[in-house]
Amino acid sequence: MKIFHNKLDLHNCLSKYGQSSKSIGLVPTMGALHHGHLSLVNFGLNDNDFVVVSIFVNPTQFNNVEDLKKYPRTLERDVKLLKTVAEEEIIVYAPTVEDIYADNVTSKTFTFGGLENEMEGAFRPGHFDGVGTIVKRLLEIVKPQKAYFGQKDFQQLQIVKKLVEIHKIPTEIVGCPIFRADDGLAMSSRNERLTSKHRAAAPFIFKTLKSAKLKFGTESALKVTEWVTKQFENNNLLELEYFLIADVETLKPVKRKSTKKTYRAFIAAYAGDIRLIDNIALN
Ligand code: PAF
Repeated sequence: MKIFHNKLDLHNCLSKYGQSSKSIGLVPTMGALHHGHLSLVNFGLNDNDFVVVSIFVNPTQFNNVEDLKKYPRTLERDVKLLKTVAEEEIIVYAPTVEDIYADNVTSKTFTFGGLENEMEGAFRPGHFDGVGTIVKRLLEIVKPQKAYFGQKDFQQLQIVKKLVEIHKIPTEIVGCPIFRADDGLAMSSRNERLTSKHRAAAPFIFKTLKSAKLKFGTESALKVTEWVTKQFENNNLLELEYFLIADVETLKPVKRKSTKKTYRAFIAAYAGDIRLIDNIALN
């Protein structure tokens, strides 16, 4: 497996593949890989000759310094895990902060047609500017035919689709299903920082989303939201930050249901000091 820490070496390698018309997929990650990431890599390998997995804890998308400091950095383990999927067809790009940002570690400012103002955008100021900056940079460096993003970060996925549309980047953005543990908890690098008590409590998030989906068949978004809020009030291990039923195109909260629209329910909740997010398709 080839591992590069700077874009020049990566370029040299990728230009050889370009000359022989090999297709390249990109799976952007922040490392601390888990089976959710591996499923993205497998989607990439099915569609392409090679997959570049970028591993980079992007400082500009963290609005909380402690979160950035504590974010797990496990490159050796990540590479081992990737080798269980494929050796020859995966290229790891694990750049330094200087390689990406030179001496200016700041994000560019983006607008994504208003998608950036909802949910994560409202609760994590500057987050999507950081995401936009790094994803655009990675797409420019790797120039993949396709790039793979998990639906757990559904808002991020919609924003990245908007990013390539606005900036006319010739990469197809592929959204991949949420990968869950057997008890329903959405896979996340943050899960490994949960205490055992909070890990045991966390599947409640998906359980509540599934019940909300059932209720949304017969009840209004407001009624479902009130019900979910109550469930979390009665749970003393998880603290709800937001629950929202939104139109997938605009990510704006639904006021009146329409059969012509597609909706998803979104949750962000704290399990101790770990922030977890999840979502579910409603129709
Ligand atoms: O979803 C993530 O892990 C990150 O936001 C991404 C897309 C790798 C950008 O840093």
